[in-house]
Amino acid sequence: MALTIGVPRETLAGEKRVATVPEVVEKLVKLGFSVAVESGAGDAANCSDDAYRAAGARIIEGAAKLWAASDIVFKVGVPTTQEVGLLREGGTLIGFIWPAQNPELMQQIAAKKATVLAIDSLPRTLSRAQKMDALTSQAGVAGYRAVIEAANAFGRFFNGQITAAGKVPPAKVFIAGAGVAGLAAIGTAASLGAIVRANDTRAEVADQVVSLGGEFVKVDYEEEGSGGGGYAKVMSEGFQQAQREMYAKQAREVDIIITTALIPGKPAPRLITAEMVQSMKPGSVIVDMAAERGGNCELTEPGQTVVKHGVTIVGYTDLASRLAKQSSTLYATNLFRLAEELCKTQSVKDDGTIDVNMEDEAIRGLTVIKNGEVTWPPPAPKLAAAPPPKPAAASAPQAKKGHGHGAASEPMAGSKLAIMFAVAAVVFWFVGANAPAAFLAHFTVFVLACFVGYMVVWNVTPALHTPLMSVTNAISSIICIGALVQIAPPLAGGLPPDPWIRWLAVGGIALTAVNMFGGFAVTQRMLDMFRK
Ligand code: NAI
Repeated sequence: MALTIGVPRETLAGEKRVATVPEVVEKLVKLGFSVAVESGAGDAANCSDDAYRAAGARIIEGAAKLWAASDIVFKVGVPTTQEVGLLREGGTLIGFIWPAQNPELMQQIAAKKATVLAIDSLPRTLSRAQKMDALTSQAGVAGYRAVIEAANAFGRFFNGQITAAGKVPPAKVFIAGAGVAGLAAIGTAASLGAIVRANDTRAEVADQVVSLGGEFVKVDYEEEGSGGGGYAKVMSEGFQQAQREMYAKQAREVDIIITTALIPGKPAPRLITAEMVQSMKPGSVIVDMAAERGGNCELTEPGQTVVKHGVTIVGYTDLASRLAKQSSTLYATNLFRLAEELCKTQSVKDDGTIDVNMEDEAIRGLTVIKNGEVTWPPPAPKLAAAPPPKPAAASAPQAKKGHGHGAASEPMAGSKLAIMFAVAAVVFWFVGANAPAAFLAHFTVFVLACFVGYMVVWNVTPALHTPLMSVTNAISSIICIGALVQIAPPLAGGLPPDPWIRWLAVGGIALTAVNMFGGFAVTQRMLDMFRK
């Protein structure tokens, strides 16, 4: 019999999301699961019981019956004690758990001999895990909504306008923290026409900020901000002082501040002080996306919108839930991908039993309780977010001896190169001894050009070949000048050029024209890809 995935109605006050949507129910059914949904579970996310039914789900009245009928429960919010009481002995639960923050809950669930896959514990830097990354999908929605909340509380346009009634300057938005939510906010605010600036302690995000239409504002203090796994760390007192000065300046200049700064396992860093709020223009807005973890702004009240010193401070902790249909659809897709992985990794057996495969790195990271045994925290991930540092020069020859990986993009090995040089020297000697002197000069230039071209191409990352070659083509078209000289009429008294040379020069000009115009056209097309 097919395993039943149960989707209860969320019980947390104000939670509008639902763990699966009708479009995804169909896919789960195709995957071989049967799906049961509690009546009314999707109402707040515009998913009616009828739509679930039409997609192939069974509708069950009441939470107790739904939990009892479910082999696997899909949930959004952290389960309450009452919900844990409804979980089947030996059942499986998938959803947000935050094991570090909820040790008591972990013990309660473990006592039920259950298995828990905490979607918040997914090893996010594994590329295979990205499709299951609910933190990213929900943070993206929240980042978008933060800008919409800011626009709602702000009494002006975001974009600049010149109208008969006067000139409206564009709004200036400052984003603190350019992680997933911050980048979504930058993109949204920029697309609404605002001038967007952003800051993060991790310098590597600067390019991402710029690519989304923002300007990266640096703190005038050198310190590496990465704390591993793509996350930030707590910065030194010296850095924080320099950062406060920069933020104070931004607060005086901008109209809207959206803060998203978080550090795993730590309270949210305090970035916006009461004095900074006071220094902002009346009518300005702060949206504090870190409100749930204590807030990045001193005056934030979690879950509330308050007005302090004429500045509206939005501290909503349910930004993703405020776009319930969208966030539920993305979340449901993340869980569907996880269900697929459970089948692929034989965590769901063909005989309808569940035995999560702890050999699989993604599943291992997610599993915080297995059959009543707490398995959190998982061992350190094998993959780091950043590429490993390059081996020191001394160890390079040893590494190359290896099994030829990457050989295609590497220059030739030393011994091969030596043989090539020896052969080239013999050919060169032969040509030098027999050919006319003028030919030897041209031949030398030709051989050197081949050698330099080979070295340049093989030492450049393949991804850069197209732009590099298009520009090189354009530049190399300088041979056009040589061809033009050859077809030019002879100077007074000079010998007329051989017709053969003329026709060769004409052919050269035609070919090099392809290089020239083609090269510039390709470069232009590549540049256009980065323009809006
Ligand atoms: P987050 O929600 O923990 O933090 C948000 C942002 O706040 C981060 O960019 C962080 O650097 C920044 N921040 C922390 N303290 C700050 C301070 N004092 N001042 C200014 N900014 C501060 O992080 P999120 O958005 O969940 O992910 C952060 C990063 O994790 C991503 O940008 C990415 O590099 C990595 N990641 C990688 C994934 C992958 O490889 N598949 C998937 C998801 C995230």
